[in-house]
Amino acid sequence: MIWRLASLLVLILFVACCEEMPAPSNLLDIPYEPTDYNLEIPDHFPKMIIPEDNPLTDQGVTLGRRLFYDPILSADNSMSCSSCHLPQGSFTDNNSVSVGIDGIPGQRSSMSLLDIGFNNNGLFWDGRVATLEEQALLPVEDPIELHHTWPDVIEELKAHQLYPKLYREAFGISDTSEITKELSAKALAQFERTLVSSGASKYDQIIDGIAVFTDEELLGHNIFFDIEPDVRRHAECGHCHNAPLFTTNEYFNNGLDNPDSGSLSDIGRGEVTGTPFDNGKFRVPSLRNIFKSAPYMHDGRFATFDDVLDHYDAKVQFSRNVDPNLRVLNLSATDRAALMAFIKTLEDPVFTSDTRYQSPL
Ligand code: HEC
Ligand code: HEC
Repeated sequence: MIWRLASLLVLILFVACCEEMPAPSNLLDIPYEPTDYNLEIPDHFPKMIIPEDNPLTDQGVTLGRRLFYDPILSADNSMSCSSCHLPQGSFTDNNSVSVGIDGIPGQRSSMSLLDIGFNNNGLFWDGRVATLEEQALLPVEDPIELHHTWPDVIEELKAHQLYPKLYREAFGISDTSEITKELSAKALAQFERTLVSSGASKYDQIIDGIAVFTDEELLGHNIFFDIEPDVRRHAECGHCHNAPLFTTNEYFNNGLDNPDSGSLSDIGRGEVTGTPFDNGKFRVPSLRNIFKSAPYMHDGRFATFDDVLDHYDAKVQFSRNVDPNLRVLNLSATDRAALMAFIKTLEDPVFTSDTRYQSPL
């Protein structure tokens, strides 16, 4: 009697389990022949460090790109990574702070993913995460972003018409049970590493010797990099936003707030290092394609580039850890127009409209 009951129970459990989890389907009939992705990097850029266990392949990038644009990653199928990182906004959402699937705003502004593969100094505004692979795991389960769970996402991916094939082609898995969040994150990271400047911006063409600055752009360049002999005109920008990436990827307090007041709602880098001297420091963002990614700063407090110049010109809050390269600039109208003209040479319309980075859906 006990044995009968037990076997009945096993049967019931078996049926229940198999209704929820379809048997893994074998994928060995699908060829696994990964091909190297041809990553084109402008000559004057640094070399990109790519983890040995996640080389870029055409198949991995294809999978990552699809995942990046697919709302399957969100609990209610309403948002994807691309909802907050849109190609036309240089992979930001043009909101001061990002809003997730439940309509709840986060506390920070979305970050551009242009040239993200060259940053080896910590991701996010505060650098709390080290690698793109690690970062890509977070938005899915973030309660104010995609608010889903990885186990549920994985079940949906396994049961999907197309994804099992894409995972097989990218990573050589032999059946659907091998689809994991780690492989998904690897694919997303591969796609993100392909988001590289095209080299077609006017600035890059000037470096390559195939274009020249106008007088105004040259003046802006010289003010930006402190090359202008007139010291009054040094704007010091290039110390932190240095060429060719237009960021050092380091953490500074650029004088937006005064951390000494002890009243910052977001202490940035200080939260990660636990050192009060890092309170109010944030990672320097790149200025490439910057006119596409307004509003500006970690909390999107400045709507326009003009507001940014107003800040650096005369509104810097001086505190113990404000960077010594910040001072009152007293920029003239000519200086401001020149800085603007120079920074416009960093526009990269070829990157923005490159179909390889757009939605495949
Ligand atoms: C709801 C909006 C939202 C969604 C959805 C979202 N992100 Fe983000 N992303 C942000 C915000 C905001 C930040 C900055 C957060 C911070 O610094 O705390 C960010 C930062 C990043 C960064 C760091 C960039 C840098 O320069 O350090 C990467 C990489 C990134 N997101 C990739 C992704 C990927 C991949 C997905 C999908 C799996 C995704 N994001 C989904 C809003 C979003
Ligand atoms: C001491 C280093 C430093 C100097 C000098 C500096 N910046 Fe910045 N810049 C930063 C940091 C750090 C941030 C991010 C601050 C934040 O969001 O809290 C930033 C943010 C910006 C942003 C916003 C970017 C975005 O994606 O939101 C712009 C635009 C900018 N700086 C332009 C300039 C210009 C123009 C100059 C020269 C007039 C300049 N910076 C000088 C460190 C610096």
